[in-house]
Amino acid sequence: MLTSRVSRLSVSLTLNIVEKVRELRRRGVDVLDLSVGEPEHNSPQFVKDAGCKAIESDFTRYTAAAGIVELREAIVEKLKRDNSLTYTPKQIVVGNGAKHAIANAMLALVEPGDEVIIPEPCWLSYPELVWLAGGDVVFAPTKVEDGFHIRAETLERLLTPRTKLVLLNSPCNPTGAVLSRADMESLAEVLRAHRAWILSDEIYEYLRFDGREHVSPAQMPGLYERTVVINGVSKSYSMTGWRIGYGAGPEPVAEAMLKIQSQMTSSACSVSQKAALAGIRAGLDFPNSMREDFEKRRALVYDELAACKGLKVPKPEGAFYAFPQIPGMWGATAKGKVIKDSADFTDYLLDEYHVALVPGSAFRAPDCIRISFANADEIVKEAVKRVVQAVGDLK
Ligand SMILES: Cc1ncc(COP(=O)(O)O)c(C=O)c1O
Repeated sequence: MLTSRVSRLSVSLTLNIVEKVRELRRRGVDVLDLSVGEPEHNSPQFVKDAGCKAIESDFTRYTAAAGIVELREAIVEKLKRDNSLTYTPKQIVVGNGAKHAIANAMLALVEPGDEVIIPEPCWLSYPELVWLAGGDVVFAPTKVEDGFHIRAETLERLLTPRTKLVLLNSPCNPTGAVLSRADMESLAEVLRAHRAWILSDEIYEYLRFDGREHVSPAQMPGLYERTVVINGVSKSYSMTGWRIGYGAGPEPVAEAMLKIQSQMTSSACSVSQKAALAGIRAGLDFPNSMREDFEKRRALVYDELAACKGLKVPKPEGAFYAFPQIPGMWGATAKGKVIKDSADFTDYLLDEYHVALVPGSAFRAPDCIRISFANADEIVKEAVKRVVQAVGDLK
């Protein structure tokens, strides 16, 4: 009855976790939740004021499908200021979140028979969106020993004439890896020798630690012409629920993304566009202060995890996630329960220690767990202590 298109898709695994946490809390259990994929900060006041003003002044009608021109102009200025990239408003399509912009780009560029290379572990929606577009995913493995940075030789080995698109995500969810300029240059050298497009998800751009720089593949010689940059306000201005993200790319791709969006959803919400405009125009004070919070909290998380013998964990370089590997997990038992993979481990952690995490299996890394540090310091500290105790229980 249903199409083959949906047969491979699954409902986001994180929804299951949210459901379990809700059920435990309903029973009065005090759950420490480190499964969250959004900053705990409220949207800044100037963003909320702009949203209210939009409503009060009846800015509540359809807008241009690609987004209001002021917002696209502000995005153009942002891309110039932060990334030294030159675009015109015609090259920008504002959608309902970065996820929507990624879906538009996939539908514009990928068709049945095309291969899309995705570094693994990866954010859970990427493969699903490739499958929705009818493409085939080729996973490019990365290693904990390399801090989950993709190696140029791995990419080179996997590129074929069928490769239509290569996905990059730096800073990375779930691994916290940030690609350096040297990483990007070696990847660019490989990419220049092929014809594949590049989809660069830069949604965590401002959340980088130890003064790391952000490097976009669109900055690399020869790659601007075949890169679509994805970004948005969800993580940078703590605006996840407002649903504003965007894609920036060569005009024919932007036009194609716009055609798709104009038939499927029309514009993103008019009120949210005004709020996002206020955020982007306000510059970097707010994202920088969030970054300071996360960087301080990273120390709480990393020091504790790094001292735990049962874990291998790269120091998070950006975003707000630690992604430890638990090498002793396979076939271990904990308090009489057999742990077969990370989902068993996170179930056990939730049941016995009341800490919620996302299992690495959600990101195609079944021997890892994702610890989000987007929660209050005391909660993060206590939860990580319990994770370490739970790892110590494994026999
Ligand atoms: C890597 C990555 N890209 C994109 C998104 C989606 O962003 P948005 O809320 O703007 O759709 C997320 C959200 O968790 C993410 O982690």
